[in-house]
Amino acid sequence: MQIIDGKAVSEQIKKEIAEEVSRMIAKGEKRPHLAAVLVGHDGGSETYVANKVKACEACGFRSTLIRFEENITEDGLLRKVRELNEEADIDGFMVQLPLPKHISEQRVIEAIDYRKDVDGFHPINVGRLAIGLPCFISATPNGILELLKRYNIDTKGKKCVILGRSNIVGKPMANLMMRKATPGDATVTVLHSHSRYIREECRQADIIIAAMGHPDFLTADMVKEGAVIIDVGTTRVPDTTKKSGFRLNGDVKFDEVAPKCAFITPVPGGVGPMTIVSLMRNTLLAGKREIYP
Ligand code: GUN
Repeated sequence: MQIIDGKAVSEQIKKEIAEEVSRMIAKGEKRPHLAAVLVGHDGGSETYVANKVKACEACGFRSTLIRFEENITEDGLLRKVRELNEEADIDGFMVQLPLPKHISEQRVIEAIDYRKDVDGFHPINVGRLAIGLPCFISATPNGILELLKRYNIDTKGKKCVILGRSNIVGKPMANLMMRKATPGDATVTVLHSHSRYIREECRQADIIIAAMGHPDFLTADMVKEGAVIIDVGTTRVPDTTKKSGFRLNGDVKFDEVAPKCAFITPVPGGVGPMTIVSLMRNTLLAGKREIYP
């Protein structure tokens, strides 16, 4: 069994990006610039956005953090999105989700210029991914793909079970795994809260990508010997032994599943760091106008 070290891979990629940025600056090109919009004070979102800003520094990007209080109106937020669309120095930006209940996330996502949508959430990017055109790819699925690639994990013709059908992870992941590409070319099954025979489906899977946000859902009896297990879960569960009072818990019961598999991602230190680095890569692509010239 091999543990997939997402932290190490992400550090390596950040280094590669920083080198590329140095070359760009040496050639007199513009420094890529990411803006992040954060509404309210949700603990998880605060941490994610702070980590994104930190990653920008490591990559040599410029970053701008725009904060609003919880009570900002939808119109107020949409106005800021349109401003960012127009601001020439900003290559890409993202609005951290979830948003307060009184704001439509979909309306905000659709207001973002798809050419600056480094999260890959805009319907144009989602649609282009579905039909195999160049686009910004959602960060978590793209990070998983990069891990599969860097660990030389064969996906061609393999049975891949995806647990969860979210717009951010499950759906784009399914599209990527069935793409005519490497990694890709897999036979994909997407399971969700209404699926039947979940255990049986999982037991036949060569690759399982667990992304339902249900701590410890995947147990050893659901996994076949030699499977590849990717754990996207990051549920905060109370833990008095931690200074913060919580720990991040994956969707996989790691201790019992790990001995059975060929590869497994830990939580934390698996998929999480790759998500942020994928956003950085998208920002680099945006800065270089590589996807939408
Ligand atoms: N909330 C959780 N993950 C993400 C993400 O990748 N992007 C944004 N914008 N919000 C999130």
